[in-house]
Amino acid sequence: MGYQRSVSADSHELSPETVWHIDMPEIRFGRDATDELAFQLRDLGVEGAARGLVITDEGIADAGHADRVVAHLEDAGLDVDLYADSEREPSIGAIEDCLAFVRDNTDDGYDFYVGLGGGSCMDTAKATRAIVANGGSPLDYIAEPTGDGQRLTESGPPLVLLPTTAGTGAEISPVAILSVPEKEIKEAISSNHVRADAAVLDPTLTTTLPPELTARTAMDALGHAIEGYTTHEHDSLLRAEDPAKRPVYAGRTPLTEMFSEKAIRLLSGSVRTAVHNGDDLDAREDMLLGALFGAISGLTAGASLCHAMAYPVGNKYHTYHGETIAVLTPASTIDYNAASDPGRFAEVAEIFGVDTAGMTDRAAADALKREYIQLQRDLNVLPSGLNELAGITEDEVDWLAQQTVDTQERLLRCNPRPVTKEDVADVFRDALHNWEE
Ligand SMILES: [Fe+2]
Repeated sequence: MGYQRSVSADSHELSPETVWHIDMPEIRFGRDATDELAFQLRDLGVEGAARGLVITDEGIADAGHADRVVAHLEDAGLDVDLYADSEREPSIGAIEDCLAFVRDNTDDGYDFYVGLGGGSCMDTAKATRAIVANGGSPLDYIAEPTGDGQRLTESGPPLVLLPTTAGTGAEISPVAILSVPEKEIKEAISSNHVRADAAVLDPTLTTTLPPELTARTAMDALGHAIEGYTTHEHDSLLRAEDPAKRPVYAGRTPLTEMFSEKAIRLLSGSVRTAVHNGDDLDAREDMLLGALFGAISGLTAGASLCHAMAYPVGNKYHTYHGETIAVLTPASTIDYNAASDPGRFAEVAEIFGVDTAGMTDRAAADALKREYIQLQRDLNVLPSGLNELAGITEDEVDWLAQQTVDTQERLLRCNPRPVTKEDVADVFRDALHNWEE
């Protein structure tokens, strides 16, 4: 085995990684866990009549979730402002708007922050809290050359996140993803100081999610789980010369594998019910738990080729992340990567519920691809491929492949199977049509 895929060490230190670690927010999970939000904040040191900000968006406010959270916090003696102007896939300007709100309404920021909503609301809350605490503007903390690449040194006052979708994993991840509209790219503020202090996951907040959004976010979650299960092993990288420089995507470990396995079972087992009968709280609970477990695996072990390919598509065509992941997964995560370790993909097939008796490993991986596509068809709300997703044709494949190779090296270096630009183009081509419409 070679260690050439290192993302962490200088070339003179050629020893394999031997250590892994995991950082997590406090996690509170279950029906009506929202009613324990004030307790959670107190537990994090929020005292007396402290003043906090709930960051959400219009849709969540319209669904009544923001009122529920604000009333609960006020009943607990806390003083709460509401910011309901988060935007989808927040731009740098959107974060600046939220920062301006905080700076206009406080002397030096709130005593606590609550992010309520999907990944976009949660990322807005994460970025806002971090920048208020560290000063300056979003660009100061985005990597060069887009930003200044300064390091965050402060976490700021407590931040608790309440997801209303089951998918992104933003409630546990150490990144806030921001779009830079003039460059048509997404950038991240990435630091342990961005991570929330606690996540409160309440399936009753997810029943209002419409079928399309339920399906998209589920496919993102399933992507995290499968990519996490099939990415490189943590000890196939070089050892970090400084533990602080261990890469964010550090490879799969026994812990992440366990979470992936459970996530794949929960998500594949309940997604049909959650999409077709949104009020089914058992299914919603499975989805929220599956998405959390998928994130614990995928967002620490590491996303791979599929996520790398999804970013150029999303930037260029403004597609939804989860939908993009859905159309790319069969060709990338499953078909292309299966060759890296067919036995492992045969295991995924089994976990996914495929009857693999008597099959070779490669045949089981192929059966997984078919089952995965069948699942998407059954949901009835997902596009059949990149073509239906955004009108992408053969003509765009080469450009997309070039973009992927040029801008996604961080993810590609961790892919379990090496990739060339030609490979990526082939995978894009394969993903144009997953089924005949
Ligand atoms: Fe994702």
